[in-house]
Amino acid sequence: MKTIVILGSTGSIGTSTLDIVDRFPGEFRVAGLTAGSNDEKLEEQIRKFKPRVVALSDASAAARLRQRCAGLSVEILDGPKGLSQVASATEAELVISAIVGGAGLVPTLAAIRSGKQIALANKEPMVMAGKLMQEEARKHGVRIFPVDSEHSAIFQSLEGHRKEDVRRLILTASGGALWPLTKEELRDVTAERALQHPNWKMGAKITIDSATLMNKGLEVVEAHWLFDIPESQIEVMIHRESIIHSLVEYHDGSMIAQLGLPDMRTPISYAMRYPGRLPLDLPSLELTEIAKLTFCKPDHDRFPCLGLGYESLRIGGTMPATMNAANEIAADAFLKGGIRFTDIVEIIRRTMDAHSLKEVDTLEEALEADRWAREKAESFVSALVH
Ligand SMILES: NC(=O)c1ccc[n+]([C@@H]2O[C@H](COP(=O)([O-])OP(=O)(O)OC[C@H]3O[C@@H](n4cnc5c(N)ncnc54)[C@H](OP(=O)(O)O)[C@@H]3O)[C@@H](O)[C@H]2O)c1
Repeated sequence: MKTIVILGSTGSIGTSTLDIVDRFPGEFRVAGLTAGSNDEKLEEQIRKFKPRVVALSDASAAARLRQRCAGLSVEILDGPKGLSQVASATEAELVISAIVGGAGLVPTLAAIRSGKQIALANKEPMVMAGKLMQEEARKHGVRIFPVDSEHSAIFQSLEGHRKEDVRRLILTASGGALWPLTKEELRDVTAERALQHPNWKMGAKITIDSATLMNKGLEVVEAHWLFDIPESQIEVMIHRESIIHSLVEYHDGSMIAQLGLPDMRTPISYAMRYPGRLPLDLPSLELTEIAKLTFCKPDHDRFPCLGLGYESLRIGGTMPATMNAANEIAADAFLKGGIRFTDIVEIIRRTMDAHSLKEVDTLEEALEADRWAREKAESFVSALVH
């Protein structure tokens, strides 16, 4: 039985992870859970999965949870320190990192530094501080297993092969909810429309990132740090059906891909149970019924955020963290109805242009770049609010 902690247990990845735990009672035991402010959902999860310790980042939500759970045998912590304490809970072997955004960096790094194996869904920390996370993982003998479906596909397609034989990694992208729209139509898109992802049901932030293609920009940076492959060997291909989750091309011309119906429980369970595979009993992928799969190149003119991901990686240092923070602020402002869809890229661009580059060798340097970029992006948002 593997003892696990889930950071972000109330979210889309968190609840899918708990669904797997529920379906395989002999396989996993939950030692700790964390969330942001959703005390009601966390209470339900505490009653069902009986973790020893939980944390909410919001202190008043944690106070409510303490009242709700009076009499239950669970320790309830709060704030960033509380999240890091749960992430490094002594009995845990594997931490599922599934907080959304840069808020996951500190607890995920705390888990790495306390020697936990990591199943990484929360891509933003890898974008902010990939070099540091990989150095710390090496130092503490930690393996980081990808959960993102594209990176899980690449991880699986690399198994049993040599890195020096790789010619290209090809990340597939569905294109998100707005792929068919013209530049003019994109300008007036509502958040409600942008949230209608064709293939995946995910949290709001990643769904907006999919619509702007910023998600793929973040994934290019994530792939670089996860697989130690240069940016020039990482490509993106639009594949609307989300059946081929990504591919690796080798120097002999072979391409190896991983396919499946879009269901995050497949990559989550692979990271949780590696190298074994759990009998999830999902519907089979019937290629004869699908009959046709389509592919095309990304359109950088309509969706310039993907290019920003490559650019940030080429520049390096604090630039990916800056891009990530500006995107979080801009995507949030769009979700709240303050700015236009096409303002998102403008805000990220301006924040990146205003940034003075530094190296990221420490957690503090990554957090300082994040703080600076959030403040800068907020000022651009305020100037734009319609
Ligand atoms: N969803 C997917 O299918 C998918 C696929 C690939 C990768 N990912 C990545 O996985 C991560 C999670 O995505 P998601 O879609 O599951 O997001 P989500 O549904 O929005 O869930 C986010 C989780 O993080 C918690 N949280 C939010 N802000 C927090 C903060 N400041 N401090 C601590 N916890 C906080 C939330 O708690 P509350 O409920 O209390 O707000 C919730 O538990 C993202 O990095 C995303 O890019 C997701």
